[in-house]
Amino acid sequence: MLGSLPEIRRDPLAFLLRVSAEYGEIVHVRLGPFHVYLLNHPDDIEQVLVTNHHRFIKGRTLSGARRLFGNGLLTSDGALHARQRRLVQPVFHRVRLDEYARVMTTLGVEQRDRWRDGDTIDIAREMSRLTLMITGRILFGAEGDAVAAEIGGALESTTSLLEVAVLPFAAFTDLFPLSQVRRFRAARATLHRVIDRLIERRRRGGSEDRDVLSLLLSAQYEGTGEGMSDSQVRDEVITLLLASHETTANALAWTWYLLARHARDEARMHAEIDAVLGGGRLPLAGDVTALTFTRMVLAEAMRLYPPAWLLARVAVENHEARGYVVHAGSLVVMSPWVVHRNASYFPEPEQFDPDRWDTVGHNGRPRFSYFPFGGGSRGCMGEAFAWMEGVLLLAVVAQRWRFRLLDESLHPEMHPALTLTPISGIRVKVERRP
Ligand code: HEM
Repeated sequence: MLGSLPEIRRDPLAFLLRVSAEYGEIVHVRLGPFHVYLLNHPDDIEQVLVTNHHRFIKGRTLSGARRLFGNGLLTSDGALHARQRRLVQPVFHRVRLDEYARVMTTLGVEQRDRWRDGDTIDIAREMSRLTLMITGRILFGAEGDAVAAEIGGALESTTSLLEVAVLPFAAFTDLFPLSQVRRFRAARATLHRVIDRLIERRRRGGSEDRDVLSLLLSAQYEGTGEGMSDSQVRDEVITLLLASHETTANALAWTWYLLARHARDEARMHAEIDAVLGGGRLPLAGDVTALTFTRMVLAEAMRLYPPAWLLARVAVENHEARGYVVHAGSLVVMSPWVVHRNASYFPEPEQFDPDRWDTVGHNGRPRFSYFPFGGGSRGCMGEAFAWMEGVLLLAVVAQRWRFRLLDESLHPEMHPALTLTPISGIRVKVERRP
């Protein structure tokens, strides 16, 4: 009756690789009452995300995540989504990104100043703290630090409890032990309370702030000139908080892990950073394009450990893929985790090799052989933001520190919840660069 659900819940990543190796470009899976199609061919993924995107919605996928994000950008559909996307777009305007870069670098420096040579740290936790502080400052300005401190624990509890969050599991998560459900609800209530309070205060007091919350509160829909309701603002704020902080933190944590295992690439990245930022000056937004190899390292880390490891849609019309009919009502899933390991596009796929991303090699591959940010009308709104944050933080931290794994033989255990998280962290020793 449950189809492949028990195996998926036990180890979704292994399940995806196993069925893909066995069945290839398209796999049909039964999941309780649902028919699910896993699409592994880049052209089919492009069809769903771009060419025929109107045939698909998020619908009941992400039903677990919707309990947290409400009707924010990541989880909404149709006219509401289109309207919200237009309204929120200015948050990611080029000029604003330059301002965000300053916040990223400043907080990156504060973080790197906290470590001492020889310290043992959990680099995953440290990156999570850092990206949360950055997101807090960018969303809430001066109030950001206090808010980040207040909601940090709640965010962690809610996201770690969202099991395989993109699938329609809401019904199943109700079967979780009551203690977990209670913990999730309590954490969500904290998040709501803190953000509602901020919104209310800003609405009452007016605000001269230039942070993202002010922008959302003053944004007006085209035509009507009306603004968002308070609950819509709250949903968008929680969406931006989570979509931006956990994804980037995980991308960075895995990048440090891979660099610690690949001394040659680490040395090459250090050489680039030292050359571009001569004399140890701090990087600005304008330096990101010159930090080419650093970006290649990040790209390769997101190939092997894509933070968003599974994307899902519901077909609202019949659709054809690889000669099979995907009937309306079926689920379609696409996994960067699987496609990024396809040896046709990435020879020796388990090897960490940033050189795959030099322009020559890169150009020969189909567009959707690599899609850590999804694509099309539902593609990541923060992609440029994330690349900038990733490269700037790698540069700021690597100017001073390198990290050594405490135990080279251990591979961090992965927890594929909302994003691909190292469940017990990544313990490293902090070493000052000569
Ligand atoms: C390494 C970092 C990140 C990764 C890997 C990532 C990945 C993704 C992916 C794959 C999607 C599409 C999901 C789907 O199609 O089902 C998405 C959507 C989204 N992301 Fe990101 N993201 C990252 C960082 C960010 C940042 C920094 C922000 C905001 C500042 C952000 C905001 C969003 C939003 C708002 C959406 C929903 C877009 C929509 O549906 O219209 N993301 N992200």
